[in-house]
Amino acid sequence: MTTRRIGILTGGGDAPGLNAVIRAVVKHGAGQLGWEIIGSEDAFNGFLERPQRLHDLTPRSCQGLLHRGGTILGTTNRGDPFAWLDGDGARPRDRSAELAAAVRAAELEGLIVIGGDGTQRIAARLMREHGIGVVGVPKTIDNDLAATDFTFGFWSAVEVATEALDRLHTTAESHDRVMILEVMGRTAGWIALYAGVAGGADCIALPELPYDPERFCHKILARRTRGRQFSLIVVAEGARPRGGEASSGRVRHGRGSIRADGAGQTLARALAERLDVETRVTVLGHLQRGGGPIPYDRVLATQFGVQAVTLVERGQWGTMVRLAGGVVGSAPLEQAAGAPRLVDPGHPLIVTARAVGIELGA
Ligand code: F6P
Repeated sequence: MTTRRIGILTGGGDAPGLNAVIRAVVKHGAGQLGWEIIGSEDAFNGFLERPQRLHDLTPRSCQGLLHRGGTILGTTNRGDPFAWLDGDGARPRDRSAELAAAVRAAELEGLIVIGGDGTQRIAARLMREHGIGVVGVPKTIDNDLAATDFTFGFWSAVEVATEALDRLHTTAESHDRVMILEVMGRTAGWIALYAGVAGGADCIALPELPYDPERFCHKILARRTRGRQFSLIVVAEGARPRGGEASSGRVRHGRGSIRADGAGQTLARALAERLDVETRVTVLGHLQRGGGPIPYDRVLATQFGVQAVTLVERGQWGTMVRLAGGVVGSAPLEQAAGAPRLVDPGHPLIVTARAVGIELGA
């Protein structure tokens, strides 16, 4: 019987737990089942660049990975094989057929693709248009993937944001300031909501609930009346005032990637226009993504990695690993590759937040 050969790659922004997934795939696939696991560097790019950057992964080469942040395979949110950018303003070109040929030339039965919605969309297309077998593993600190309750990396980001709030709490209290913490999440407010509740924020601004600054002012003043001279506010990077923009501007991040910046500053300005408050803004940024995974994410990543191998073993290509109701299972990949999963305004944690007096601005 020929040895099964499977490719693995990590795409999009990194997230704590990527290495733990790779390790679990290799330990189970290669260590237990005797498969060959081939890692592609920098997402799909490893197949497309000359010389190809493909590596045999073995339990030995994956030692010590469980707690390590980042990804040993490297990653990129550039390099879409369906819209490849050569640089220098060249028009994007489709290299997907070349990629599919490279996967076949490497004698890979299929790919385990660890990534967020963008990467899973590419993976789903690769399967649909070129017949490359793909099993997805949901990754992103933003937790905004459809079809899974949680992505790995999310809780590690929440932990960092919560610790930041704890630290801001004491300095806010000492100086009678309003401290605004801007957290990541793109168009979704999951990190802001969970960290806000965990860190005892007084106000949380979510992209899903455009805010009225007056409501935050009211909350700050009400606290003052009770002798609480400081306030803590968590702002998701995608949050915006009702009828307004999230940011003071849009900032270009590398080739072709533009994102909003300044949600925290926007809110600080809105407060300063209305109240006599001393405000400071902290943008947590990539501290939320760097570093090792917390134990929950190590466990989830290990479960996801093993489940990915199980799906391959059963020939269930075109699926994505997921967590649903506390159980690790799978869902059609196309489902995960759709629109981002946003916080529903009726989400139970929104109800809880309101119930403990957190002002959501809407
Ligand atoms: O999707 C993960 C994420 O960290 C978002 O929360 C954030 O908006 C974005 O990536 C930042 O991207 P970059 O690392 O390219 O600045």
